[in-house]
Formats: sequence, structure tokens, C-alpha cells
Amino acid sequence: MKLRIIYIGFFVLLFPGKVLRAQPSVAVIPQPNRISLTGGELTLRDHSLVFEPEALLFRDASELFREQLFVRTGFTWFKTGEAAGAILAFKQNTGLEQEEYILDMGPDAIVVEASARAGAHNAVMSLLQMMVLGKEGGVSRIPRGKIQDKPAFSWRGYMLDESRHFFGVEKVKQLLNWMAFYKLNRFHWHLTDEPAWRLEIRKYPLLSLVGGIGSFTDPAAGARYYTQQEIRDIVAYAAKRQIEIIPEIDMPGHATAANRAYPQFSGGGSRNHPDFTFHPAKKGTYTYLTHILKEVNVLFPSGWVHLGGDEVSFGSEAWNNDRLIDSLKAGRKLAGNKEVETYFMRRMADSLFRMNARIGVWDEMADSGLPKEKTLQFWWRHDKPEQLQLALKNGYATVICPRIPLYFDFVQAENHRYGRKWGKAFGTLEALYKYPVEDLQKSETYKGQIAGVQGNLWTETVNTTDRLDFLTFPRLAALAEVGWSESRTKNYDRFLEGLRKHLGLYKEENLYFYDPFDPAKEEAYFNKPPERYPDNPED
Ligand code: ACM
Repeated sequence: MKLRIIYIGFFVLLFPGKVLRAQPSVAVIPQPNRISLTGGELTLRDHSLVFEPEALLFRDASELFREQLFVRTGFTWFKTGEAAGAILAFKQNTGLEQEEYILDMGPDAIVVEASARAGAHNAVMSLLQMMVLGKEGGVSRIPRGKIQDKPAFSWRGYMLDESRHFFGVEKVKQLLNWMAFYKLNRFHWHLTDEPAWRLEIRKYPLLSLVGGIGSFTDPAAGARYYTQQEIRDIVAYAAKRQIEIIPEIDMPGHATAANRAYPQFSGGGSRNHPDFTFHPAKKGTYTYLTHILKEVNVLFPSGWVHLGGDEVSFGSEAWNNDRLIDSLKAGRKLAGNKEVETYFMRRMADSLFRMNARIGVWDEMADSGLPKEKTLQFWWRHDKPEQLQLALKNGYATVICPRIPLYFDFVQAENHRYGRKWGKAFGTLEALYKYPVEDLQKSETYKGQIAGVQGNLWTETVNTTDRLDFLTFPRLAALAEVGWSESRTKNYDRFLEGLRKHLGLYKEENLYFYDPFDPAKEEAYFNKPPERYPDNPED
């Protein structure tokens, strides 16, 4: 008996949270990491919140909160002095990290503490979710107590491929708004690839006018692309939501649409992928792409540009029959096409570094020698874990986005007929939620090199916004918790229970989401594949 008490005492010392009390939870996705509830509730209704004028630093968070609260609950508010009510106040606390916040829900005041815009944003999104999900009739009830919270990982991203199919300003804004709701903070925008180029470049207008024509399912579709004015509008919309946008201008492969517009810079391709590459041995190619990247870098103040670097071998066999490339290889002592690829990427990276930008690259570049302080690797090939190890060993910060379970174009359940599979494998919501990102950096050597996680939606099989929604929701919510909540905070059953109410929010917004509680739904809806709808597109 005595031994058992000592034993339990020892266990309590080691794992105090686990034995003494289960961490309380609140109706927030991603689940906050530290919560202490004092018991009781705050009851709020229309007009019962009173705002203290906030410092400029907190204006975006405060305005977004008021706007979203109104949109989602119909509640409006007063300023202090205009009426009596529960005060919402913002206070700067420089002792907190950028994204960290304290949300103190006292008996008659709610106080947000943060050191920076991002922390204040995260605080009000937690409050917003509690108020929206805690609303019944005209009254919203939130628990009293304190949340002190910060993310497990700084990079919590979602990637949308708009080359294969184009969705437009309103859809992108809607996605950004949901990302903000879930505290996701990086939007990786895949704007160029084989089917189309989707971004206006003033110096080279044919990129969008000719390169913007077509889609994966309809090569003759009229040109669709974002004007620079639309990009600025979207960037500002994202900034207000604390989301940085990382555009991807894929090179030297996946350049087919650009090569349709300016064939003089094509490096050729293969039978399945004609005109797939930019020409790596023409001086003009580097000048042309540098001009493009200058416009891109000005449009996107994140200071990040993703340069791709993936799957160049789909088209680089053409480089074996090109005299200019033979001379490049001889002159620079480049042994083969892989070395030419690396040479190309280093030159283009240097162009961007001269503009003070940093670059993202796919994991084919894990051994490229690109400078580790300015390069972020994206590990995507789940079947090549050695590429992740190589990136880490070479000292790179790395974003984790392996196809399974982080490519959102993979099917989610056995009965889903259209979309991608790997052999028989696909990406369930549960596998996504349980993906052990923290374990990848268990080794002390690589501590801190995992920048975070990202869900990637490639759109070969996504030719409608319904299908986009179906593959994205509620995966976006699960992704948010993978990136934010520490492993001791995560619990799939608690997540699913909380998710039920989020599905109600999706319904209110007419999103066509995947319902994990009714998985047969797609069967009924997507019973007829659109033309050229691939079962299993090539990687
Ligand atoms: C990729 O899926 N080609 C990065």
C-alpha cells in the first residue's frame, strides 16, 4: 500500500497534469494549450459588449472581431461611455511572444493581453468562436476563467493550386476568412503550372492573356487570372487576418503555360509534358524571370516567394539534346541535368535574395546547397522520408506537408470514388488529426527546424467550388489543431465532438463540406464524374 502511494506520488511529480486533473477544454478549434476556468459563465447578448478604444496595434483584431461577431451572431456593441455592459479591453503585454495571448474572462470584463497584432488576433478568434458556438436564442454564454495560449508551430499553412482550376477573388477571400477563424497564418498560392498562369505581370502581358487560357479539364476555357489590383486587395484582406501570402512561381519545371505565352524561353519537355521547363542555358531566361519576380515580390509583402523546383525530371530529358545546354554543362562543369537544375535554382534564388526576399522550395532541393538562412524546404514526398532527413541534416527549416495525410486532393474515405489515392492509401480526417508532427523533431539535433505544417489542395480533380469545399472542410479545422495544439492538448474524440457545431457554421455559409458523421454523402452527390475527371492523376 505504502509502495503504491509512493509510486503514485512519483507519477504525479512526473506528469502533474495527467494525474491531478484533466485539462479543461473550451469550445475553440484549435484547442488552447493552457486553460484555467473559475466556474460560472458570462452571459452576453446584443448590445451587451462595450469596447474600450483600442491602441492602433490592436485595431485590426478589434475591427475583425466586431465585424465577424456581427456577421455570425447579429450582435452589435457600444463604446465605453455610451452604455453599461461587459467591457472588452486590449492591453499590451510585452512579456508575451508575438503570437501568444492571454484572454481573461472575468465577471464583468474581458481583457485581451498581447504583445503584437498576431497575439491579439489569436485572442479574439478564440473569443469569437466561444461566443458564436455558445449562442442559443439571443444569448451567448462563455465560461469564466483565463486562457493563456500560443502555437506549437509558427507555420500553419494552406496551399491552393489555381493553375489547374481557377476559383476567383470571392472564393479565396472566403478561404482566408476561415483560415483566420482557425488561426492558420500562411496562404501558399500556387499560381503557375502546366495548365495555366494566373497572375498579371505588367512587363509580360501575354503571361496572363495567353498563359491564363485553359484549365486542367478544359484547355479552351477563356483566360482567367488575377489582376495586380485584385492581388493587392486579397493581400490586404489577408493581412487584416494576420495571414501572409506566399506566391509560388514554379520553376524550372511546371512552366508549360508560361512557355505558351513566351516560347522563346522554353527549355523543352517530354512526350507527356511538352514545353515543361524554362531554358536553363539562355541568359535571357534569367533576365525574364528576374523581371517577373520583381513584380511578384512587390505585390506580396510577405517577402517569401516559393520557387517550386519539383519534378523537373518530367521534362528535363529535352536538355540532353540541346547544344546550348551542352555548353553550359561543359563550361560550368555540371555533370548532368540534376546539376543544371540546381544551378538554375541557385541563380534564381540569388535574384530574389538581391530583392531581400526569402524562398520556399519543394524537397527535391533538400541537397541543393541553397543558403539555409533564406530557404524554407517543403517536405511533400511521404514515400521519401529520407528527403525530410536530408533537409534537416542540411540545416534547413522545413514545412511538413507529406501527401498522406496532408494533400487534401486525396480521397477521405473508402467509398469516395473520385480523387487521388496512393496505391490503396488515402488521407482520412483522423490520420490528419493524429499526424505526429512533434515527433519529427524529437531528435535534439534538429530541434526547432520543423517550421510547421501545411495542407495542400492540388486541383486536378477539383473543378467546382463544391468539390473544393468538400476536400477542405473540415480538414482545415483538423489541420489547425495539428499546427497549434501541443500533443498533450490534442484528443480526437474531443475534437470531433466540438466539430459538430462547426459543421453547423459550414451549413450556414452554404459550404459543401465532408461530414465525418455521415460519410456516405459524397456517393450521392458526386455520382457522375465530369469529363476528363482523372481517377488517379499523375504525381
Ligand atoms: C508536388 O506535389 N509536385 C509538390
